Amino acid sequence: MKFFIDTADLAQIQEAHDLGILDGVTTNPSLMAKVGIKGTDAINAHYKAICDIVDGPVSAEVVSTTFAEMVEEGKKLAEIHPNIVVKVPMIKDGIKAIKWFTDNGIKTNCTLVFSAGQAILAAKAGATFVSPFIGRIDDGSWDGVQLIEQIVGIYNAQGYMTEVLAASIRNPLHIVRCAEAGADVCTCPLSSILGLLKHPLTDIGLQQFLNDAKVFQ
Ligand code: E4P
Repeated sequence: MKFFIDTADLAQIQEAHDLGILDGVTTNPSLMAKVGIKGTDAINAHYKAICDIVDGPVSAEVVSTTFAEMVEEGKKLAEIHPNIVVKVPMIKDGIKAIKWFTDNGIKTNCTLVFSAGQAILAAKAGATFVSPFIGRIDDGSWDGVQLIEQIVGIYNAQGYMTEVLAASIRNPLHIVRCAEAGADVCTCPLSSILGLLKHPLTDIGLQQFLNDAKVFQ
């Protein structure tokens, strides 16, 4: 399973990259706003800065909602860097736009996916990635990981090439369960990635080894 970081914060992206396990980045308008990036020029420069840190897919989301506008916006985003993946919402015009991008060699990430039916449409349109939002599903007391399992099963049965990108990750257990469910990619906050490191027996064991090592020094 590939690891993407789900943030627009350059320091966090650099920290995850420095771990050596980072395969890509996802952003969305809320994450861009959170780091104070406003205006087309600043937004484009920020995507370029992310691409300069990470040599892998970087999702940049369109903020228009009609087919023609999404195509125009997506074309401009794709021109920023070869690693840009145009993130498109799961709406009727979004599906049309994904098909257009697919036919024109532009990679896409179909976002705001909450059902298997939506994931089938995204794959039929040729999306590079489909993003089921598992945390938001869990927030409503449904089971987000179950949706990942269902989509992975359908894509395998049908031979769809779209990669299942588990999004809206809330904790390290989500990452483990998405790996079990066969997700191709998990996009995570830095805190969830670092949370995978934690085990009290590791800390206790290391302390003991370091104490014992002092005897021989
Ligand atoms: C990523 O592609 C999504 O936009 C993101 O994971 C949504 O996460 P949230 O539900 O924590 O906002």
